[in-house]
Amino acid sequence: MKNKYLYIETFGCQMNVHDSEQMAVLLSGVGYQLTDHAQKADLILINGCSIRDKAEQKAFSELGRLLKFKDKNPRLIVGFGGCLAQHLGEKVYGRDKRVDFVFGTHNIHQLPRMVDAVLKERRRVTQVAFSDKIESLGIFAPPPPGSLGAFVSIMQGCNNYCAYCVVPYLRGPEMSRAPEDICNEVEKLTRCGVQEVTLLGQNVNSYGQNTAFDCDFPKLIRLIARIDGIRRIRFTTSHPKDLSDGLVECFQSEKKLCGHIHLPVQSGSNRILKRMNRGYTLEQYLAKVKRLRSVRPTMAITSDIIVGFPGETQKDFEETIDMMEKIRFDSVFSFKYSERKGTAARQLPDKVPEAEKRKRLIRLQNLQNLHTQEKNTALEGSIQQVLVEGRSKNSDLDLMGRTEGWKIVNFRGGSDLIGALVDVEITRGFLHSLRGKMIES
Ligand code: 5AD
Ligand code: SF4
Repeated sequence: MKNKYLYIETFGCQMNVHDSEQMAVLLSGVGYQLTDHAQKADLILINGCSIRDKAEQKAFSELGRLLKFKDKNPRLIVGFGGCLAQHLGEKVYGRDKRVDFVFGTHNIHQLPRMVDAVLKERRRVTQVAFSDKIESLGIFAPPPPGSLGAFVSIMQGCNNYCAYCVVPYLRGPEMSRAPEDICNEVEKLTRCGVQEVTLLGQNVNSYGQNTAFDCDFPKLIRLIARIDGIRRIRFTTSHPKDLSDGLVECFQSEKKLCGHIHLPVQSGSNRILKRMNRGYTLEQYLAKVKRLRSVRPTMAITSDIIVGFPGETQKDFEETIDMMEKIRFDSVFSFKYSERKGTAARQLPDKVPEAEKRKRLIRLQNLQNLHTQEKNTALEGSIQQVLVEGRSKNSDLDLMGRTEGWKIVNFRGGSDLIGALVDVEITRGFLHSLRGKMIES
């Protein structure tokens, strides 16, 4: 039988990346092998993101490019999926009628059947219905050979309805996986050589709520920390309003839990936080940062910030700048507010002009670059524990690994160290990476 090839183009967050890994596993069961070359593919999937307009535009321009391969290969089939497909449903065909099938965020498990129907019946198939159990959550995606790290989905969906955000409409309500299933998956991963797991969820801090099992997020971390072979635990993303004392205690007692938290603040103005429906004040956020730093003084804190939310005045923006000066994040993902259909913020008055948003974003990013550089320079002379991931992209003589705080470190060393946890003295802090020298034990 001729090999069938699958090409997947993924946009957006780690959750989407993980979904794509699961799509590949499912389709390998019906004979499709992943390829990096779209021109060779028999089946192309576009896993789109719709969180901001820019992401949506990117996915559609890529769709147009990939559909061109149909001119040379009429048997090629192309599916459009993920958050963006959930958002648009059958309207995707209106964007380009050459698309063969459309699948939503709860329909990944139906992919083999959908592909089969398209091939046999040569008709369009659309599946975007939500269900009360996300079947694909438990699909085991074996990590590529030699991987030290892997993602594990612990929950899906979101109940928070932040005024700007489409995620609750596209991923549905929160659903947590049973702790036994998660631990079994982590154990399986360790047998494949994985040493570091990143627990994924739209808001991991509300893991276990409204479920039949008695396990919250801190308890889950403790269960995973007991698994032999796991040396590091990370997680993302964390909603500040649900960050509990129990989680702070985990940072104190669980040595395997990496000293890094991604804690999206979004704004430094209480007025804007309220309009965003974030459920916390700046003072509460600052208090949580203080508690985290009191148990792990060297903890890396990263964040997301939106500029130009409707009604954001110059004064509100200055409050965001002041907040950044106070906290000094290790790094920040910053975005111009992007209006999304169906969200509450769309109805809000006092939209900020595009040019003003751009100006604020540049100012914020320049400031953050100073802070990131300052944080990285401050690490000079310190000893960091680094999990060696592979050879460095910069030089054949160097290795590359990450600190607990998720910072890239390049240092001299032989390939025999790949996969080891080593101590590295930081000799230089740059904006995007660190340089170090391994300490021989
Ligand atoms: N406009 C701009 N940024 C957004 N985000 C989510 N929705 C929007 C939007 N409509 C950002 C938030 C979130 C991150 C994943 O994306 O900062 O934390
Ligand atoms: Fe979107 Fe808010 Fe849910 Fe995060 S917590 S996914 S920003 S609605």
